[in-house]
Amino acid sequence: MIKAPRPYRLRPMRLSDISSVMAIERSAFPVPWKESAYHYEVAENRLASYQVLTIEIADLPSKIIGYAGFWMLVDEAHISTIAVANKWLRRGLGHLLLLNILFLAYKSDATMATLEVRRSNTVAQELYRNYRFEVVGGRRRYYQGNEDALIMTVEPLDSAYRSFLNRKRKELLQRLSKDLVGLDGP
Ligand SMILES: CC(C)(COP(=O)(O)OP(=O)(O)OC[C@H]1O[C@@H](n2cnc3c(N)ncnc32)[C@H](O)[C@@H]1OP(=O)(O)O)[C@@H](O)C(=O)NCCC(=O)NCCS
Repeated sequence: MIKAPRPYRLRPMRLSDISSVMAIERSAFPVPWKESAYHYEVAENRLASYQVLTIEIADLPSKIIGYAGFWMLVDEAHISTIAVANKWLRRGLGHLLLLNILFLAYKSDATMATLEVRRSNTVAQELYRNYRFEVVGGRRRYYQGNEDALIMTVEPLDSAYRSFLNRKRKELLQRLSKDLVGLDGP
């Protein structure tokens, strides 16, 4: 798990986080997952790993402002979701959540990372391209509403890629530390 600069923190998702996660889920996705899906992922799916990103400012209680998850399918880390709350977009937190997953994927001995993304979701595609994900295929009408999915993959997760991730982490932690000035609370 990446040690995020304060007041941010990354930690594993718990069942008690799910109502906060669902509030972000409903605003972030055109077809949100059901609460029961998160329940299953956190409580039962042994292949799944979900993390939340929290912020804690001054005396305010810690608040969930993003989350991400993946499944370990043999040697493939399959990224199942990633989202940041609207108010916290464009501060580098999508980078933080994705980088964290990629480091966790390493720890689980993944040799590749893959995901599906809506063809129209160019913002997410840009995020993934930052980590050298490339479009390797598609699934027609994969999503509700008949939108196509693009399949994006990065491989191999070798030592050269790990060095690249270490550089990205260093840059990001500097960026996040600078951006902390002016935070006005959740
Ligand atoms: C995708 C998502 C997680 C990115 O979160 P974020 O915290 O805003 O992302 P960051 O600020 O870390 O930006 C990461 C990169 O994404 C790209 N990006 C983010 N917002 C963008 C925008 N509005 N326009 C173009 N590119 C954008 C950029 O490449 C950016 O890198 P940069 O800041 O170095 O230029 C967020 O937009 C989100 O929650 N979207 C809804 C849920 C979703 O679609 N998830 C992906 C499902 S496959």
